[in-house]
Amino acid sequence: MKNPGRNLIKRYVIANWKMQLSVAESETLALDELASCGEMNEGLEVVICPSFTALERVGKAVKGSLCALGAQDLFWEAKGQYTGEVSAATLKELGAKYVIVGHSERRQHLGETDLMINKKVLQAVKSGLVPIVCVGETKEERRTGKRDAVVERQVRAALQGVKLVGSQELLIAYEPVWVIGTGQAVDPEDAARSHMVIRETLRDLFPEPVAQRAHIIYGGSVDSKNIDGFVRFPEIEGVLVGGASLKPREFLRIASVTWQAVIKHNISKR
Ligand code: 13P
Repeated sequence: MKNPGRNLIKRYVIANWKMQLSVAESETLALDELASCGEMNEGLEVVICPSFTALERVGKAVKGSLCALGAQDLFWEAKGQYTGEVSAATLKELGAKYVIVGHSERRQHLGETDLMINKKVLQAVKSGLVPIVCVGETKEERRTGKRDAVVERQVRAALQGVKLVGSQELLIAYEPVWVIGTGQAVDPEDAARSHMVIRETLRDLFPEPVAQRAHIIYGGSVDSKNIDGFVRFPEIEGVLVGGASLKPREFLRIASVTWQAVIKHNISKR
């Protein structure tokens, strides 16, 4: 994609297909979504994250297109006796540019800790993959007023010792755990508030202009009906989409609304 200049914005629309599709279904969906997103390049990065086993076929499908490939996880060591794990080098070999790290479903079902997530982020960055680091509070944490503290702690822990050199980028996905898969996203204004907390933390962790290479996106029940609300907030630099990314028409509208917002903004800055 073209790299926007100083005042031009760039937005991300990232599909997390989780463990929902077979290899053949993943390839078919990738081809459908590519055909729809084909022209939307300027300032928009569309990323598809299939399961490990579908990376090769989806990678071939997206090769040469404007869509990028991402994985849903990686292991923190480069190589070795780690049965069942997948290395950053293998992901890169298959064409992945991005990797989701620390998704709340892995924190919840696989016991991933802040420390494990930090080691994965370090390995991703070292290998030249762009990590998409997921953070977000549970319903109970929100109810008890711990939301900002939890999000800040997760960001600081995940990025401990991380340096962004050269043109290396990093994404933080704010995903309130309690809205994932419910069909009920948080209010965009409410999400933007957490994005500001994350931005402040990033400013503290990275000097300017390095901090500008860390982008903050929102995830949690984003769909074709609520996307218009999210693109209005400058703090929200894109979306990480689960369920709606499995439906080509839904995903197309999410991408096209986001792209139109980018174009509108960037034309006004030229
Ligand atoms: P849903 O869009 O299905 O709520 O999933 C969000 C998510 O977990 C993306 O990583």
